[in-house]
Amino acid sequence: MSNLVDRLMAAMTLEEKLGQLNMIDAGQPPYEREELHRQIRAGRVGSLLNTYGMEDVDAQQRMAVEESRLRIPLLFGYDVLHGHRTIFPLPIAEACAFDPDLWERTARASVEEAGRDGLTLTFAPMLDVCRDPRWGRIAEGPGEDAHVAARYAESKVRGFQGSDLAARETMAATAKHFVAYGAPAGGRDYGSADISERQLAETYMPPFEAAVRAGVAAIMPSFNDLAGVPMTANGALLNGWARNRWGFKGVMVSDYTAIVELIAHGIAADIAEAAAQALNAGVDISMQDQAFVLGIPDALRRGLVEMETIDRAVRRVLELKARLGLFDDPRRRLAAPPLTQKEKSGLSALAREAARRSAVLLKNERNVLPLARDTKRIAVIGPLGDDPLQMFGCWFAAAGFESATIVQGLRAALPGTEVRHVAGTHIYEPGESGIAEAVEAARGAELVILALGETKEMTGEAQGRGHLDLPGSQRALAEAVLALGRPTVAVICAGRPLTLPWLFERADAALATWFLGSEAGHGIADILTGSHNPGGKLCVTWPYDVAQIPIFHSQRPTGRPANPDVYFCNRHVDLPIPPQFPFGHGLSYTRYAVRGLSATPDEFGPDQTLQVEAEIANEGERAGEETVFLFLRDPVAEVGRPVMELKAFAKVALQPGERGKVRFALAPSDLDYLGRDLKPRRDAGGFEILVGPSADRTRLASVKVRMRADG
Ligand code: BGC
Repeated sequence: MSNLVDRLMAAMTLEEKLGQLNMIDAGQPPYEREELHRQIRAGRVGSLLNTYGMEDVDAQQRMAVEESRLRIPLLFGYDVLHGHRTIFPLPIAEACAFDPDLWERTARASVEEAGRDGLTLTFAPMLDVCRDPRWGRIAEGPGEDAHVAARYAESKVRGFQGSDLAARETMAATAKHFVAYGAPAGGRDYGSADISERQLAETYMPPFEAAVRAGVAAIMPSFNDLAGVPMTANGALLNGWARNRWGFKGVMVSDYTAIVELIAHGIAADIAEAAAQALNAGVDISMQDQAFVLGIPDALRRGLVEMETIDRAVRRVLELKARLGLFDDPRRRLAAPPLTQKEKSGLSALAREAARRSAVLLKNERNVLPLARDTKRIAVIGPLGDDPLQMFGCWFAAAGFESATIVQGLRAALPGTEVRHVAGTHIYEPGESGIAEAVEAARGAELVILALGETKEMTGEAQGRGHLDLPGSQRALAEAVLALGRPTVAVICAGRPLTLPWLFERADAALATWFLGSEAGHGIADILTGSHNPGGKLCVTWPYDVAQIPIFHSQRPTGRPANPDVYFCNRHVDLPIPPQFPFGHGLSYTRYAVRGLSATPDEFGPDQTLQVEAEIANEGERAGEETVFLFLRDPVAEVGRPVMELKAFAKVALQPGERGKVRFALAPSDLDYLGRDLKPRRDAGGFEILVGPSADRTRLASVKVRMRADG
């Protein structure tokens, strides 16, 4: 294989080399179709994005491997984020399932469809930890916690890449966006992230490190700057951390036109300088701006880059193509037999399973849920009740237009029940003329489902919001319906937590469904009707008010902790101290209790593994699956450690009345932290281990352990 790469390297002209570093969006300017094809034949384009489907991929791949001088195959990249043709829940939703096995299975299932469409590189997983739901892209990532994001990273990389990238059922994964993209000032996308080195190392780096350890094939630097240095040119982190410290051997692909944007960032005067800085920092492929093709020849003449650096990048791209088996058979994935009806049904079943396991039951009073199966009339009120396009979320272009809506799901699940839908108002355009009809429909129903939220377009890239309430006239609609006093369930469709304290106060039940994908409505109906006992838990702290942001469970302690009875303390005087719902919150139709927490040995040496065990009892009447969290509290260290730090989570499935054990093994490294010099420390002394259903301190069992100095 490397013989082949060596041979190609020796044969390539500079223009052909730069062609390998050039990724072009097939559907966009600057190239018309004919011109793009000319460029491919001339070897001036090495990969495409946003082209998929047998016909186009095959035709363009043939141009590369049959008509270009060196016959080097193209890479086909695409944002397969949460499904390809079958759409799975948004990442923020799927993270709430807290199930690494599910995360892996949905990634693998996406490849089944994406590979048959000729795609070889996905721009996923998105690993940006985010503690500010104003940022629209919180929807695309696994939430607020570094440990969860790291587990998510490994699962997704395994799911996309399998164990051998050359196998047909694989595609190369891209860990993005490296790094701290989820921390832009004010939640405004693309903005500067000015965070401490400690925060960077403790919170934002771990998921990327986990992806690299899992063998991720590519990394995408983020659009943002970090304290003034745009990530696309941040050699200290791209080459320094990812390649040198972690040993990343793969390809770095810039974000869309990010290299030329270095000029607007104010660190390059022209495209040659921009291209040189990105290449020297470790970027191998320029996405869409042709920065390397256009800028590097000049940069070479001006002595801004070395030929050796160009060669290293080209070699990495060729090696990725070789690892994907593209030189052996560029049509391998395309030639897979079409999915059988049974396989397609399997994908739908998985999408439905993922949907019902990702929704989070936030509130359930007066036993309103699960709804009584003999309910005769249900009114679904709200603009998100029956809109098939809205259920998809951010990335769904290959999916067509049909997803299962809430109304469809309920009608299918309850054939004997009349399910009436009245939108009542538009999602975001103000207008109250439909409210009277909605109220009438609600009045005639035994149960009302308020289907409210934001549009899928309000989540994702460039969708920072300053207010996290319901857009348009939805609040007026909801209040008019709630005034009837009917049993009412709020179903909230959104890519982020919305601050709706009035709704959580007045609705009998509330279900956060995020955007659940192709099978959304069926998954939601499974929960509403009780054929599935909900088990989703929040992967983000749900604020009560935008002004509480940033709010997350692993805050650092203060000398004057928040306390409603204390004058001089860490709080806003005009806001509640706790969030609306803590990290890990999520109800079910049964009750669980955690008992008998133990940690052995209670005194241990610095090389010894700690065994933590607890009993979980299902004390209700329904079978269910509980997620149990293990947090660590290190009360004395060189630097203040978070009030609680998530170290592990586990799921236990229990029949009614059943008791089960949950066991965690804590390695000594799990107790490590970064000292004042940002170097790892393992301190002797006491630790507290907290185990329970969420980050609500009052619901956690705790046990103290002590690490000896000697071992
Ligand atoms: C986004 C990336 C995405 C790329 C290609 C960019 O605008 O930031 O997440 O992978 O476009 O679609």
